[in-house]
Amino acid sequence: MADMMQEKPLYIWMISLHGLIRAEHLELGKDNDTGGQTKYVIELAKQLAMHPDVEKIDVVTRLIEDASVAEDYAKTEESVSEGCRIVRMQFGPKRYLKKESLWPHLDQAVDKCLNFLRQAERLPDYIHTHYADAGYVGEQLSLLLGIPLIHTGHSLGRPKLARMLANGRKASAIEKQFNFARRITSEEGVIQHSSLVVTSTQQEIQEQYGMYQHAADARFKVIPPGIDTSQFSPPLRSQATSKMQVEIEAYFADADKPLIVAISRPDSRKNIHGLLKAYGESKHLQAKANLLIVAGSREHVNQLEEGQKQIITGLLVDVDFYNLWGKVAIPKHFSQDEIPELYRIAAKKKGVFVNPALTEPFGLTLIEAAASGLPIVAPDDGGPRDIIGNCRNGLVVNTLDSDAIAGALLFVIEDKKRWRQFANNGIVGVWRHYSWTAHVEKYMKEVRRLLRKDLKRLRRQQAIYLPPEKNYISSANAALISDIDNTLVGDKRALNLLGTWLGEQRVKLVFGVATGRPVESAVAILKRNHVRTPDVIISSVGTEIHYGSRLVPDLGWAAHIRYLWRRDALAEALSAFPQLTLQTPENQREFKISYLVDPLNMPDIDSLKAYLHEKKLHAQLIYSHEEFLDILPIRASKGHAIRYFSYKWSLPVEHCLVAGDSGNDIEMLLGDTLAIVVGNHSQEIAHLRDETQVYFAKAHYAAGIMEGIAHYQPKLAHLLAAPKEDLVHV
Ligand code: GLC
Ligand code: MG
Repeated sequence: MADMMQEKPLYIWMISLHGLIRAEHLELGKDNDTGGQTKYVIELAKQLAMHPDVEKIDVVTRLIEDASVAEDYAKTEESVSEGCRIVRMQFGPKRYLKKESLWPHLDQAVDKCLNFLRQAERLPDYIHTHYADAGYVGEQLSLLLGIPLIHTGHSLGRPKLARMLANGRKASAIEKQFNFARRITSEEGVIQHSSLVVTSTQQEIQEQYGMYQHAADARFKVIPPGIDTSQFSPPLRSQATSKMQVEIEAYFADADKPLIVAISRPDSRKNIHGLLKAYGESKHLQAKANLLIVAGSREHVNQLEEGQKQIITGLLVDVDFYNLWGKVAIPKHFSQDEIPELYRIAAKKKGVFVNPALTEPFGLTLIEAAASGLPIVAPDDGGPRDIIGNCRNGLVVNTLDSDAIAGALLFVIEDKKRWRQFANNGIVGVWRHYSWTAHVEKYMKEVRRLLRKDLKRLRRQQAIYLPPEKNYISSANAALISDIDNTLVGDKRALNLLGTWLGEQRVKLVFGVATGRPVESAVAILKRNHVRTPDVIISSVGTEIHYGSRLVPDLGWAAHIRYLWRRDALAEALSAFPQLTLQTPENQREFKISYLVDPLNMPDIDSLKAYLHEKKLHAQLIYSHEEFLDILPIRASKGHAIRYFSYKWSLPVEHCLVAGDSGNDIEMLLGDTLAIVVGNHSQEIAHLRDETQVYFAKAHYAAGIMEGIAHYQPKLAHLLAAPKEDLVHV
């Protein structure tokens, strides 16, 4: 089986929700949400699609219909390359939203994805999510469908929040703008649930993920992103002098000396002045090499934004102060597409690339320089440590220490043999560690390992969600959802017969229960009665939905019913009534407060409602069996839960058999469901006889359910026999 797995070509889902994603001409930098992540996701998908182990890749993103962005983003499907397409799901408003505003709409995204996958011929073998928003959606899908999850954070909430607080920003203002609480909660969940978290560096694992509670149990793997090495290549021996080389040489008195190159935004943390100081204070270094600094573009220094102006002015003043004319160049303009050639020129001159920044979490320019055959000197920080550790193509240095910078530069350029070794190591090392080929190879190795492991784990747990295609809910055409007490349970022999029948319908028929009991107690009574674990358990009077034997909670439902629910305030307000006695702790749930009442002492329900209304509290009050009072969110009930379930899994309510016996079952028996009332029903439900849709059985308990099934048999036989595809329009 493990070997078969290895042979089977994969179907992959890559989810990346925010920003603008299309197959061609990515609008990188158009806004904060369309940048490195977007580029990486599309490139990774393309590269993976070419891999022989991969059959198909869907890049799943948000559909946007908005006059302020291109029409491309409104297409539901777009082909990227062979075996690779973009699939856009519409959720939330049609207009473009920045990522901080997507949170309230993600549960809808989950539903849309489930809907899409239900129509698909095959479920993905795994889901790879990018950033916390997609992570949230992917985690739900993974839990609901039993598909393994891989996650890449790209950037993380906790470290970012810590940085902002350290910079003196007010916590409340930050929260309002960025929604960190929601982001961090999602990140914790994803880290805990993912089978694999992909990072770019070792430092990211230790320092960034290290800030998360669940990091200790998570599985991380450093798989640095691939870079497009085709643009960056070492100079050819025979390479003629380019126009750019002539222009560069014109800056220097002795242009034959090795060239030190630094490229960075004019930003104080990039520490360009530290580099100039190092060069200015070392006569030795000045004698050995020239220095070229690319620090953005400028027309007139005075027109630059204030921070940049200060930095550039400072550099020009320092050149003058150390008298570096003819040795240092700070060109006015340098465009992005000239950079590969600049690296080659420096390599030809046996120079060195230096990054004098104070910190460097990753260091893309270092990899580009290395691919061009240029040794590197860089800060002793996460990114450079990994790169130089992998490639052995230069030195890390304490960039706060100018002498150390100068010393490292000299060390690299002074010894020609050493220089050549570094240059070669860089070229080979980048190919081995940072090319797309290397990235995809490492990535696929991890994926294979994980899928094998996951399969074993699922087998061990005997989860109902065994291999993905065996997820009953997504392949079933019909459901039986029954109340437990006095409906399913009560007649052991009949229940046995029903159990046998259910066993025969597996795969095509979802089996569920809907009960007032808390989930643990529902599981216990079913066990005692030898009923198999339901595929779905709607418990605590419809306030909770769980799936399968692993009792995977439906977080989308929780998010939906949370609306206007203030549990603590409600409990506090109702504590004013001594006639209400709280039930045992296991009956008190996040979305349910339950009391025992003495019917003789029962406070009037309408005045209770009015009392809560006055306090601006919203809840449903459900009084039943002259004994119980349940306080629930206004959106929760067994009936609503069944409808939500039906919508979420695209299983029409007309395909759902529903059985009950008493008052709190009424709502789920009404409407389009195939309703069954058992013969032993209570009086409060008798009036449903007038509803044509509801079948009143003569037999009691499970025998009544069997009788109902027989009644609906013509319709059921059709549902249970036909393959799924034929049923879409039934
Ligand atoms: C179940 C629950 C209880 C609830 C009652 C009525 O017995 O355990 O908490 O009050 O149903 O819905
Ligand atoms: Mg009942």
